[in-house]
Amino acid sequence: YSLYPENTFVQRPIVVAHRGVPSLAPENTMVGYHLAYDLGADLIETDVQQTKDGQLIIMHDTTVNRTTNGTGNVADLTLEEIRSLDAGIKFGPEFAGEKVPTFREFLQGFKDKDIILLIEVKAENIEEQVLQEIKDEGMEDMVVLQSFSIDTVKKFREIAPGISVGYLYSASVPGSEQQRIQDAEQMLNYATTIGARLNSSYGSLSEESITYMRQRGIINMHWTFRSQEPFEELLKKGLIGPITDYTQWLTDAPTKI
Ligand code: G3P
Ligand code: CA
Repeated sequence: YSLYPENTFVQRPIVVAHRGVPSLAPENTMVGYHLAYDLGADLIETDVQQTKDGQLIIMHDTTVNRTTNGTGNVADLTLEEIRSLDAGIKFGPEFAGEKVPTFREFLQGFKDKDIILLIEVKAENIEEQVLQEIKDEGMEDMVVLQSFSIDTVKKFREIAPGISVGYLYSASVPGSEQQRIQDAEQMLNYATTIGARLNSSYGSLSEESITYMRQRGIINMHWTFRSQEPFEELLKKGLIGPITDYTQWLTDAPTKI
């Protein structure tokens, strides 16, 4: 289930546009995703939740408060109520009128494009619905599914064995680097990729460990790069997939080959 075969090397990092390009456009909006694509991102990351009336929409927080002009929990609002909100105005007047995307709209927006969609499932028990919409659009080869929940990761492995699945790892735990690599190999029983929080136990791996993980087909996608320093250091060591708010910084960055 590796995204890239063992011993495949890349000449530049695989740039993952985190929620679109939130340094330049409102997060998790279609305008932001299209900007990420135009800037040359390789993957576009997004967050999926479910409305009160059972529809899949794109939003990071469990409430609409921070990113829209409305208030309330996503799970307590209907699709119609969420679609009536403005998801651009808080970022800047030039983005006024931008809507909260439905998951279907997100998929359809990139169906004919050369891109991989990194789909993070934030809500519980929506795995089958997410998969169904992907299948409806015939986009199984264009997605990576990911979650912080090991149960969701396992569920996807069961119902979507041909689709890449990522496990998001945020813990900072004691122990040697060797132990972390063994943990990662265990995670590979379920997942294709490991998305590690920068200051988690995978955030400061040595060059040797990164190389070892690459050779084992463990795709390391660290998040979230919001300053230049750590990504430059990690790219020098061979990090493959930086997840960033600043796609514009990374699409020309060299990485170890
Ligand atoms: O893709 C990894 C990253 O998105 C996980 O953190 O909080 O931005 O969803 P968060
Ligand atoms: Ca996310």
